[in-house]
Amino acid sequence: MKTVTAVMRDRIDQEMMEKAGAILKQGGLVAFPTETVYGLGGNALDEQAAEKIYAAKGRPSDNPLIVHIAEFEALERIADGIPEAARKLADAFWPGPLTMIFNKKELVPHGTTGGLETVAVRMPDHPVALALIRAGGGYVAAPSANLSGRPSPTCAAHVQEDLDGRIDMILDGGDVGIGLESTIVDLSEGVPTILRPGYINQQMLEEVIGRTEMDRGLLSDDSDVRPRAPGMKYRHYAPKASLTIVEGPQERVIARINQLADEGEAAGEKIGVIAAAESTQHYGSGIVRTIGSRSDEISIARHLFGILREFDRLEVDRIYSESFETPQMGQAIMNRLMKAAGHQVMEV
Ligand code: TXA
Ligand code: MG
Repeated sequence: MKTVTAVMRDRIDQEMMEKAGAILKQGGLVAFPTETVYGLGGNALDEQAAEKIYAAKGRPSDNPLIVHIAEFEALERIADGIPEAARKLADAFWPGPLTMIFNKKELVPHGTTGGLETVAVRMPDHPVALALIRAGGGYVAAPSANLSGRPSPTCAAHVQEDLDGRIDMILDGGDVGIGLESTIVDLSEGVPTILRPGYINQQMLEEVIGRTEMDRGLLSDDSDVRPRAPGMKYRHYAPKASLTIVEGPQERVIARINQLADEGEAAGEKIGVIAAAESTQHYGSGIVRTIGSRSDEISIARHLFGILREFDRLEVDRIYSESFETPQMGQAIMNRLMKAAGHQVMEV
């Protein structure tokens, strides 16, 4: 299959957008930018499109997809018993990086929900995404547009790297703004529960709807505690190199990483270092990448996946990373970094 790329960085190319919409209506696949990461879109109401998504990504088909919509009214056709809390959250955060889980209506095929009776729904905050959803019939199922197990794509080149030749089209909207996948909240039963942390954190949710809980499977690194979002159980975002997070007072972290990088290089290994802008200058060995500034946490979120991909390309053997417990997005950043590290943390 030849994958066509349409560039829409500054304005939407209407002709190509119509083509993209037609591809979705005919059951094909189009990758597109959102404010979080790039998505791999197919018609959410077409079971066969869901199958194609799983095949293109090499993803297990028990892992449900998020349905992307462009108007709130669209939610009523696919979700049953929408609670008041969902309306409040939609008012506060849609369009935006928040996914909500509801009981599903008949219209949504089980192929899209990985066999579940619930459906995850989100309205992305990106003009290209919203135009595509409208052009494609209003319901676009989209996981992140990476091969299963690789870091989520934060620019069109990452999508090409993974999916060129496997999908019909890529809409290139430039670099994404946030860089980590949306926050997922389950509103289908009981106390609203956060299944995946993201840009919108627990405190921001609680300011709008009161008490929420964190999924136990998220907080535990015990693999017997199963996360409620099936996708959270996989070792995602995994770079090829082994990644270790080094935690502790900043000076000691820098000293230890320098020592480990020296030892690795002496043993003939290629070492990658992930550092905040504030400490980059203190590293003397290894391939050092600045992830962003501790005073601008979104810059850290935005660069994480791209750096992991770059280290893959450079065939680095080992990666050492500082830890980034920032105020708003710290939990989301550390959730992704911990997964990439397979929970390998060194305290100094
Ligand atoms: O920011 C995002 O959410 C991006 C962009 C493209 O919108 N999408 C994304 O999709 O991250 P994906 O498929 O990579 O992650 C979806 C997560 C998975 O962990 C999946 O298990 C969970 O959402 N999920 C989807 N539907 C669910 C459901 N009904 N119940 C529980 N978890 C669900
Ligand atoms: Mg994903």
